Amino acid sequence: MLTREDNELLTRVGPGTPMGEMIRRHWVPACLSEELPEPDCDPRRVRLLGEDLVAFRDTSGRIGLMEEHCPHRGASLFFGRNEQGGLRCLYHGWKIGVEGNVLDTPCEPFTRRLTHRAYPVHEQGDVVWAYLGPPEKRPPFPNFPWTLVPADRRCVGKVDYVCNYLQAIEGAIDSSHADLLHSGYEVLGWSEEEIRKLEPGRSRFSQPRWEAENTPYGFRYAAIRKPTGYDPEQFKSVRVTCFAVPFHCLLPDVPHMFVPADDETTWFYDVRTGERAFDRSASLASRGELVGVDLTADRHKVRTLQNNYHQDRTAMAARDEKWSYSGIAWGKPHQDMAVIESMGPTYDRTREHLGVQDVGVVRMRERMLAAVRSFMETGDVAELDPSIPYDRISGELQVIPVETPWQTVADYCGESVRTR
Ligand code: FES
Ligand SMILES: [Fe+2]
Repeated sequence: MLTREDNELLTRVGPGTPMGEMIRRHWVPACLSEELPEPDCDPRRVRLLGEDLVAFRDTSGRIGLMEEHCPHRGASLFFGRNEQGGLRCLYHGWKIGVEGNVLDTPCEPFTRRLTHRAYPVHEQGDVVWAYLGPPEKRPPFPNFPWTLVPADRRCVGKVDYVCNYLQAIEGAIDSSHADLLHSGYEVLGWSEEEIRKLEPGRSRFSQPRWEAENTPYGFRYAAIRKPTGYDPEQFKSVRVTCFAVPFHCLLPDVPHMFVPADDETTWFYDVRTGERAFDRSASLASRGELVGVDLTADRHKVRTLQNNYHQDRTAMAARDEKWSYSGIAWGKPHQDMAVIESMGPTYDRTREHLGVQDVGVVRMRERMLAAVRSFMETGDVAELDPSIPYDRISGELQVIPVETPWQTVADYCGESVRTR
């Protein structure tokens, strides 16, 4: 449970709010590279941290991210012409370059020397990242292991969550829901054999032991279980998830980011990487994130709260599908979104009743509160310490001897662990 004040502190992200200002000190995803596929392509609206922006790729391939409303009298630049090195407002033809410089004002006797609000961007890992904070505080770009993988071995999906970003993060941190929401086989009365037939490798419902600890970048936690196919007296299965402030959830093999568009909508970036090149469309289709099928061209999902995510009660009664428990067809994000969005745009956490399996959720809130309070006190973000090797932070799943500490599973441990 959280106090009303802490709930507000954690969830409000607009300009001038403590959390909004702290997140602005980080590099944040603005859109996918493929949303700006080529020079002079169509511009994109980008809503980010409560700001309305427009993104475009100019004639030489450079990306601009700027305030959506024209500096002249505020018409939307989204409707503008993107050509010859700038974005031209339709209304009176003012033209603006990627750095926000007004290049041409054809209605005026002289070109006005104005600068429109524009943000620095960095393209990496199929994502266009932006920095919305004070220029003098801009940190180096943090490459995670997944942003360094060759492009043909990576696929990044993007879907909207119609709720606050913290709620969406809680869904990723809360591993215990997977045995229910995404499977629920025990509730459905399936035998071990039936489960294996549909999902090889998955065992029946198991309540793991949880351990968590803070790290310089955030925190990480382990779900420790008896491993299938090993002697449980000698081995344990350890699944480590890392959380990097303010929205990176690094699950084993599945990095996620939950980027606030505003207080009540979030962009979910869902990353997959492989040992070798793989079919990106098939990957997106398998997780229900394919544009034209599951999503609109603007990456809004087709199955929503308004149409009950197409929940199928006949399938629920039949109990014979992989998703019969929820009645909400694969992929997983739709099942997650159904429960997470149904909590309301920003859940009132004074009303909840937490259980022992919520340890990761509690730790994430505590860690984010500590980060934002430290930022309010010092004016700096401790989690952006340039000595942190972001390129070594990733989730891991391993079977290790019972006497080996779970902390050894991940490569980068951080000071708090190394000193033990
Ligand atoms: S409003 Fe854009 S040029 Fe006048
Ligand atoms: Fe989930």
